[in-house]
Amino acid sequence: MRAVHIPTVGDQPQLGELSKPTVIEGTVLVRVKAAGLNPIDNAITAGLVAQMGVPHEYPLVLGRDAAGIVEAVGADVDNIAVGDEVIGHVLLAPPVSAGTLAEYVLLPLAAVTHKPAELDFAAAAALPLAGGAAVACVEAIDPRPGQTVLVNGASGGVGSFAVQLLAARGARVVATGAPTDVDRLTALGAALVVDFTAGRVAEQVLAAHPDGVDALVNLAGFAPDAVPAAAVRAGGIIASTTVLPDQADLDAASLTGVSVMAAPTRGVIAPLAEQAAAGDLEIAVASVLPLERAIDGLAGLAAGSATGKVVVTLDD
Ligand SMILES: NC(=O)c1ccc[n+]([C@@H]2O[C@H](COP(=O)([O-])OP(=O)(O)OC[C@H]3O[C@@H](n4cnc5c(N)ncnc54)[C@H](OP(=O)(O)O)[C@@H]3O)[C@@H](O)[C@H]2O)c1
Repeated sequence: MRAVHIPTVGDQPQLGELSKPTVIEGTVLVRVKAAGLNPIDNAITAGLVAQMGVPHEYPLVLGRDAAGIVEAVGADVDNIAVGDEVIGHVLLAPPVSAGTLAEYVLLPLAAVTHKPAELDFAAAAALPLAGGAAVACVEAIDPRPGQTVLVNGASGGVGSFAVQLLAARGARVVATGAPTDVDRLTALGAALVVDFTAGRVAEQVLAAHPDGVDALVNLAGFAPDAVPAAAVRAGGIIASTTVLPDQADLDAASLTGVSVMAAPTRGVIAPLAEQAAAGDLEIAVASVLPLERAIDGLAGLAAGSATGKVVVTLDD
């Protein structure tokens, strides 16, 4: 099968032929129709799993999210059948080796759910990790209706879901985005969009909310001082998928910090898919590429030129 993979440690990703996986207990073999790209795919190329000490094997196929058609099921699988259209996620479980940027992928049964007919394969493949991360962030801050929540990095894949989920919970959402993102973020439910390219986010937010926001969902920045924690009032909470301020700084500002790790299992993916199918959650697919251009898509994601989810589709 064709797969975008890292042949061995230190190599760059390439599209090449690998053997088709064989189904085993607890898994579902899926013919991939679409695979969603995520920043973690680039992080894995840069050595993330090795740095985390997670056992992994080469060739290592990139891609975590997929939608496709079931080709075979493990002997113990009784809720998914051959021919079913499904959405799934390759959990970061050892040994990390399988990926969805391939003609076939073995998905763990725990992270597979039926694809609602209303969702096309591309939209479905954009959902699991970004949607799951957004759910985890919202659960971590658990906002009450009327509270104000800043979403830093709102214009990206996770942020586009987080803005919608927070607005649906009755929060007033302050979102960050470039000027070209304002209309889209407003349509998703943001009450105010702050231009992160025009100056410090915390200062801009405090200008509109002098007492500070109640909570921050942080989805951007890789250094503690890049987190706009100063925008959050004393007693507030920060949930971050990237980094948190140092604990001493959180304590000094009377803030709680929660490091979020998404777990896009069936129990998370299925309700999101149902909400999207019902028209209550928009899946913002920014671009759709063929497998031959998946590596370009990953480069665009790393360069920040994507304006939503990038999805790779595969022909029959
Ligand atoms: N811990 C977990 O379980 C988990 C799960 C999913 C994602 N993540 C991480 O969460 C982060 C967001 O993921 P994603 O999929 O949403 O990535 P993404 O689609 O690349 O979105 C990131 C967004 O942040 C914007 N941005 C860049 N610099 C910014 C700044 N200084 N201030 C505010 N916004 C800025 C980008 O805008 P431009 O494109 O205009 O630059 C982009 O829209 C990534 O670091 C990812 O690795 C973690």
